[in-house]
Amino acid sequence: MWWFSSPKIIFGEDSLEFLEKFDGKALIVTDENLLKAKVVEKVTEKLNEYDVFDKVEIDPSFEVVKKAVEHAKRYKPDFIVGVGGGSSLDVAKGVRLVYDNPDVVLEEVTPWTELKVKTELILIPTASGSGSEASNAIVLTKRDENRKIASINPAIMADYAIVDPEMVKSLPSKVAAFTGLDALSHAIDAYVSAWKNDFTDGICIQACKLLFKYLHRAYKNRKDEKAVEKVHNAATLAGLAIGSSQAGLSHTIGHSLSIFHIPHGFACGIALPYTIQYYSKFAKEYYDELAYHLGFQDVNELVVKIKDLIRSLDTPTNFKELLKDYNITEKQFLDNLDTLVYNASMDNTIVTLLEIPSEDDIRKLFIYAYEGKDVDF
Ligand SMILES: [Fe+2]
Repeated sequence: MWWFSSPKIIFGEDSLEFLEKFDGKALIVTDENLLKAKVVEKVTEKLNEYDVFDKVEIDPSFEVVKKAVEHAKRYKPDFIVGVGGGSSLDVAKGVRLVYDNPDVVLEEVTPWTELKVKTELILIPTASGSGSEASNAIVLTKRDENRKIASINPAIMADYAIVDPEMVKSLPSKVAAFTGLDALSHAIDAYVSAWKNDFTDGICIQACKLLFKYLHRAYKNRKDEKAVEKVHNAATLAGLAIGSSQAGLSHTIGHSLSIFHIPHGFACGIALPYTIQYYSKFAKEYYDELAYHLGFQDVNELVVKIKDLIRSLDTPTNFKELLKDYNITEKQFLDNLDTLVYNASMDNTIVTLLEIPSEDDIRKLFIYAYEGKDVDF
């Protein structure tokens, strides 16, 4: 037995108008910057009564969910609206789950924990990448261990996702680049997961098609409405795919690199060519099939095209250059290599791989991706 679940998805131009159907008190969960930039205003102008919790940080912690739940208990909303990138949407999902299940310990939630929710949750992405609006996962940081933990459960899924391109018009190009690469890594990881299935394969193919066709355009020109809308849809599609099939090896590596506080999408996107080369020993048939659907010859051409796409976003194709851009030296990388390998081997995404790589192979993967070397092991 398996499942595929989805929120009701309202997409395209003017989809924000759907909010006008809702009566009662809304609690908006977002971050300060989006509030200041008046992006949240596009949502609040459609609501009658609302309050705003704007304390979501980048790489949000379990503590911020607790604070937001306290806020919700005081305000007593009739429904909750998450507005933002993956961070705000994940916090909003956490808030709804804990608000409706006060005894639940978020860190201990598994796909099999019996949970029910009654407060409606609407998620409105303001970036095109995490797919959080369409997935049943919450990724939060455990601050004392400096690592991310994913809570996955069917009750986490939002009731509605509003995928309106209006919300991403002012997204800076660089953010469009790394969030788009995040979406691509979701679609590719999900296609080769041990949990892949007939309901997600087609979704992965379409998400990849849209990203190869439109991501560069949407990066170069945020006024290219068609490209911006297509990438926005692709990110939600890829989110649906990981909701049922899970993210994979590019995320095992990418999550681990979060100790350096680099954008998640860059970490996963840059890892992709190397993880594909390595994981081909288990999943070559799937990669070749995906390549065929994208009009490429085989997995080798898929890797070349991914690197071309990354370069077209003015982004390096190895971790050495990326980390340099974020002032992380080679010494810092090497000093932390044991932690990177340990965190990767403990990451939730590793359990849904077709085969679990050895710690030795994970170490080599980090080094090859750092140096930009083709995987030969
Ligand atoms: Fe991701």
